[in-house]
Amino acid sequence: MRKATFGTNGPEIGVLGLGCMGMTWAYDVQSRDDENSVRVIRQALDLGVTLIDTADMYGPYTNEEVVGAALAGPYRERAFLATKVGIVPGEVGQSGARDGSPEHVRRSIDESLRRLGTDHVDLYQLHRVDPAVPIEETWGALAETVAAGKARRIGLSEVTVEEIKRAQSVHPVASVQSELSLWTRDVLAEVLPYTEEQGIAFLPFSPLGRGFLTGSISSFEELPADDFRRRLPRFQQDALKANLALVGKVKEVAERVGATPAQVALAWVLAQGRYVFPIPGTKTPRYLVDNAGAAEVVLSAADLAELDTLPTPTGERY
Ligand SMILES: NC(=O)c1ccc[n+]([C@@H]2O[C@H](COP(=O)([O-])OP(=O)(O)OC[C@H]3O[C@@H](n4cnc5c(N)ncnc54)[C@H](OP(=O)(O)O)[C@@H]3O)[C@@H](O)[C@H]2O)c1
Repeated sequence: MRKATFGTNGPEIGVLGLGCMGMTWAYDVQSRDDENSVRVIRQALDLGVTLIDTADMYGPYTNEEVVGAALAGPYRERAFLATKVGIVPGEVGQSGARDGSPEHVRRSIDESLRRLGTDHVDLYQLHRVDPAVPIEETWGALAETVAAGKARRIGLSEVTVEEIKRAQSVHPVASVQSELSLWTRDVLAEVLPYTEEQGIAFLPFSPLGRGFLTGSISSFEELPADDFRRRLPRFQQDALKANLALVGKVKEVAERVGATPAQVALAWVLAQGRYVFPIPGTKTPRYLVDNAGAAEVVLSAADLAELDTLPTPTGERY
């Protein structure tokens, strides 16, 4: 796997990471299989994927335990382990409440480290800014985890440039995680140009459009009954049908360049910046291999330009 430095001051890690959320949360939870997930995480390390992304609220809480089991013993040092704090889980599949209080952060890091079976994480991320707590206070508590040796560096998620700047006034921001894919490009306007300029790593989440851009989902009905995507506007019957035209275009480019649609979707995301580390999620060994292959797919300027002009999707992202 090709490597890049994690922002100006970070270590060299594989350009593609692995998102672990779907292993115990949100998608197709009925077919949860922890032993398989442990194998998939270790297979990722063998493929040169180093960035392993989880969060305390996925599961809730079970995701970190699965990741911890996978990274036991010698596996831990091969991973660049990232987790998140700041959302208190609600009902399964619901977005949960925000808690950015310093007390919550201080308590949560210790609980995350226990579940992950490690004495530090490589990246500790604020999952969402809590509107009830000034970001400087929350970020100060995350900075304490660095001072205590519990986190090597800290990052933000789903923030504005203004919020990044406020956090930077307290402690360096190592990374920003937000949705970025062929059908969600909002961050290209301001956030990504700012992180690139500042040498901050950017972690695109849902880079495969929650699986849709791979071409493997063709109707609302085929989504499992308890699947989170059933609640999202873009996956509703009519919207999904309309959005298939977008996938058709991705397939056309994929055929032309001799890659899979998933690889084209990821290669386009990778091409958006120097410090961009997409974290596609999968619990399926063959998908993992497919996605890892995207690091070697080169899209020409003409291919990128064509993908840049894909129609906007029908339906909001949430
Ligand atoms: N910061 C945040 O607020 C936030 C929000 C959402 C997600 N995230 C992070 O981002 C990660 C990735 O996002 P995501 O999981 O929402 O969406 P995604 O990576 O866009 O898509 C995941 C879905 O695509 C399927 N898939 C993966 N590779 C495939 C391939 N090559 N061919 C066909 N299907 C494929 C997966 O199936 P299987 O799982 O069945 O293999 C899964 O259903 C998460 O795991 C999580 O770590 C963060």
